[in-house]
Amino acid sequence: MRKKIIAANWKMNMTVAETVSYLENFRSHVDEVNGVEIVIAPPFTAIAKLSELLGGSQKISLGAQNMHFEMSGAFTGEISPAMLRELFVRFVILGHSERRQLFGETDAIVNKKLVLALASGLKPIVCVGETLEERDAGREKEVLETQLRGSLAGVTPEQMQTVVVAYEPVWAIGTGRTASPEQAQEAHAHVREVLKELVGETAAKVRIQYGGSVKPNNAASLLGQPDIDGALVGGASLEPLGFAEIIKAAVPK
Ligand code: 13P
Repeated sequence: MRKKIIAANWKMNMTVAETVSYLENFRSHVDEVNGVEIVIAPPFTAIAKLSELLGGSQKISLGAQNMHFEMSGAFTGEISPAMLRELFVRFVILGHSERRQLFGETDAIVNKKLVLALASGLKPIVCVGETLEERDAGREKEVLETQLRGSLAGVTPEQMQTVVVAYEPVWAIGTGRTASPEQAQEAHAHVREVLKELVGETAAKVRIQYGGSVKPNNAASLLGQPDIDGALVGGASLEPLGFAEIIKAAVPK
């Protein structure tokens, strides 16, 4: 059984003050929730405060939205995995489509980050997903395969057990246009097939999250699909009650 994992990607939202009031509210909604792994990935500036407030919570893990592929050095404006680990960050989102599209991240860069994240004891959430143009051209499976092979190059089956893959079709991110449960399931099954080629039987243990306009009203139908093991939530995670509702949709029945 793959434990469902629901992660909040706050993107470039939430000040420290907003984070403090969010967490108090959010915690009251998930007090009784069990059986789901919860991750919050705030902006870097809110990580230290959130870490202090969470105090090593087993229920809610801290995530980061990005990291650099070197441990230290002359990389102005970058954050290293050592800095994240010091603040008890457990997960790191790598290769989000916004990083790929707006900041030029390639599969090769994502792979360098993945290697260092694993060596640093961080659990990577590796994002893949096709654009609308690629889907319209019927190329989504090929695109996913290229991204997976490039981003996960050299990863051993043992390491892969700590990696989460997020399927985020670019056309569904922030657009309110969600992939249908059937479309998402088809893509997730394909991701698992590619993983099987890369890491054999371990593929069955890898959790694959769906991301792209996940909301309280569509979470249950997406999470009910056999290969959808969680969600990576942007906009809807900024609202504590709504995010908690998405998490509740993932509780094992
Ligand atoms: P939205 O939920 O806002 O569509 O964002 C999805 C996403 O990019 C999560 O990483």
